[in-house]
Amino acid sequence: MKKLLISTIALLVFCTVKADEGMWLLSLLKEQNIDKMHELGFKLSAEDIYSLNQPGIKDAIVGLGTIGRPFRHFCTAEIVSPKGLLITNHHCAFSAIQQHSSVEHDYLSDGFWAYNMADELPNSGMTASILERMEDVTERVASGLNEEMDAAARAAVIDSIGGVIVKEAVEGTLLTGKVISLFEGNQYFLFLYTIYKDVRLVAAPPQSMGKFGGDTDNWSWPRHTCDFAMLRIYTDPNGEPAEYTSENIPLTPKHHLPVSLKGVQENDFAMILGFPGTTDRFATSYSLANTMDVTNAIRYKARTVKLAIMKEEMNKSPKTRIQYASKYAGCANYWKYSFEQNKALKRLNTLGHKQEIEAEFTRWLQANAGRTAQYAEVLPSLQKAYEESHPYAVAQAYLMEAFAGPELHQFAYRISGLIDDWFDKELPEAERAEAMTELKELAKEFYKDYNVELDARLFADLFRMYNDEIGSDLHPHVIGLINDKYKGDYTKFAEEIRLHSLFRSEEALLAFLEKPNRKKLEKDPAYIAGRSFYEMAIKLATFTNDNRAVIDRNNRLFVRGLLEMENGKALAPNANSTIRLTYGKVRSYTPRDAVFYDYHTTLTGVMEKENPQSAEFTVPARLKELYKEKDFTPYGTENIVTCFITDNDITGGNSGSPVINANGELIGTAFDGNSEAMSGDIDFEENLQRCINVDVRYVLFVIDKYAGARNLIEEMTLVK
Ligand code: ARG
Repeated sequence: MKKLLISTIALLVFCTVKADEGMWLLSLLKEQNIDKMHELGFKLSAEDIYSLNQPGIKDAIVGLGTIGRPFRHFCTAEIVSPKGLLITNHHCAFSAIQQHSSVEHDYLSDGFWAYNMADELPNSGMTASILERMEDVTERVASGLNEEMDAAARAAVIDSIGGVIVKEAVEGTLLTGKVISLFEGNQYFLFLYTIYKDVRLVAAPPQSMGKFGGDTDNWSWPRHTCDFAMLRIYTDPNGEPAEYTSENIPLTPKHHLPVSLKGVQENDFAMILGFPGTTDRFATSYSLANTMDVTNAIRYKARTVKLAIMKEEMNKSPKTRIQYASKYAGCANYWKYSFEQNKALKRLNTLGHKQEIEAEFTRWLQANAGRTAQYAEVLPSLQKAYEESHPYAVAQAYLMEAFAGPELHQFAYRISGLIDDWFDKELPEAERAEAMTELKELAKEFYKDYNVELDARLFADLFRMYNDEIGSDLHPHVIGLINDKYKGDYTKFAEEIRLHSLFRSEEALLAFLEKPNRKKLEKDPAYIAGRSFYEMAIKLATFTNDNRAVIDRNNRLFVRGLLEMENGKALAPNANSTIRLTYGKVRSYTPRDAVFYDYHTTLTGVMEKENPQSAEFTVPARLKELYKEKDFTPYGTENIVTCFITDNDITGGNSGSPVINANGELIGTAFDGNSEAMSGDIDFEENLQRCINVDVRYVLFVIDKYAGARNLIEEMTLVK
């Protein structure tokens, strides 16, 4: 009884401690967060997470990137075994799974399980970063800067000082480093990572589990998605990062996360470490209006058209369905996000809240002559710059969607440099041959997932949309050409691409390369479209350059002012793909009047949602059997908990991040946010914003009982 009383009191105390907004920097946890984390129930120390002297939790946190852009982490993963085994989301590995799939080996539909390491599949181009250390280098960077500098001069100084800092830090090591701006240019940190280049696919459930609920359930709770996949990091025989070779060995990590079988209760402590991509919490009302009326509105409109075309064509053949699965999912994800974000921003009157902050900022600066001198122009300048760049922003948004809608013109333009090399008889034979080899490789990769019938329809509809929405002064050359030569018949132009472009198929391209002819290339409709859209993108960037500089400068001043106004209160910088920690607890919520959402879901909900008529809600027969047999031990007793929610502060890029309990053990993997708080990237909603996680016991249950991959279970450290 006494014990019960104590825990009730503890519960009451915990309930008064609110979740903290913020994606915090690991090196500052001790200073900024650890006390609060302890109040919430965390049992370890800040050094157990991040320390310069000992391995810690951070050594088990992996940022997934791509070879050309290793710092732009598209997702997170966590190390769960002494052999470099990773858990991430199914949707993070989706493109890898898709690339390994064909009509014969459909890993999307059937899942993929490596029952021994030899079966694991290399993912060309995927990288895995693990943080070595981070350091505040603001003073060194700031020593070269002054307020009179224009944007270009400023950028040059930051680059050159940053370059020296990185060079010093990585000298004689295998580390890769980057100096990154925080708080909109008011702070600079050096991040040093070990970047591994051999990351293999180990396991993925069928998409009927890994993507259960599809786009209907995406961005929403209650959720029943088994959104996990497994990867493994490989190194050379010395344990160092290396490109894929068959001699590589599994990584021996400094730390791997133990996996808890205990499960979660409401109000349990939960923290998440990962690589959140972008937030804009210091956005002004002007930038917010642009996000709503331009970025989100146009993206939603253009992608509605794009998705309908893709879906129709995908329904026509299994081949196209596999080819476009990942492209479709990526497009649909932010299509829905844009719509839900606008809805949430309106409902929560985020614009009004931003205006209140601006009014407070104005009162604060007016109260003091020094501040007035520094900050009085900030908001008016921002307002003016956004107003002036509005027409270009609209063109940029349509251009983004039209340019990145169809694909053939992008591909044609992208490889045209290599084609030039190949055609250039003056070049040494070896260089020409190299260009040809690369062309063949790029072509093989591109055409594997390309369907010209589908693409032609995208050309017609998205180019037409650009023409209809944007004045002729901002038309790329190709739009003028279609309006003149094709009399504005966009379908006819698309047909020309489909039937006659040199790039319409791998065979056509290779045949063209046999007989070099620059004139033919210059006349190719796909090439013309690619080049002219690219040129227009550059032009639009130039037109907006001055206003962009005004916006950057005044955003920096605005944030600096806000930091001064907050007077030393710990604030977290916006997400920017660098490693962060968010802490909070398992927590139910009330999305709207009279509705209560519990903190977890179970397999029962999967069976309730089942609909064999819908690809999104099909349940594999084997899972239904397992559910009936009720053989859940040791992953559950009466049922399997599928997903749970926490009030952690996460965003895109955090996908695949470990949810860790008070003892430093893995309890789940984060995979989504809830639509009611989709405004969260701009304004955190403490009572509404939830992070959606797959329960690690569901993951283990599927690996063990569904797939029989005991080899993977045995690698892990399970804690009862
Ligand atoms: N909304 C998730 C995220 O951005 C992606 C979920 C993928 N699932 C899907 N049904 N499209 O992290």
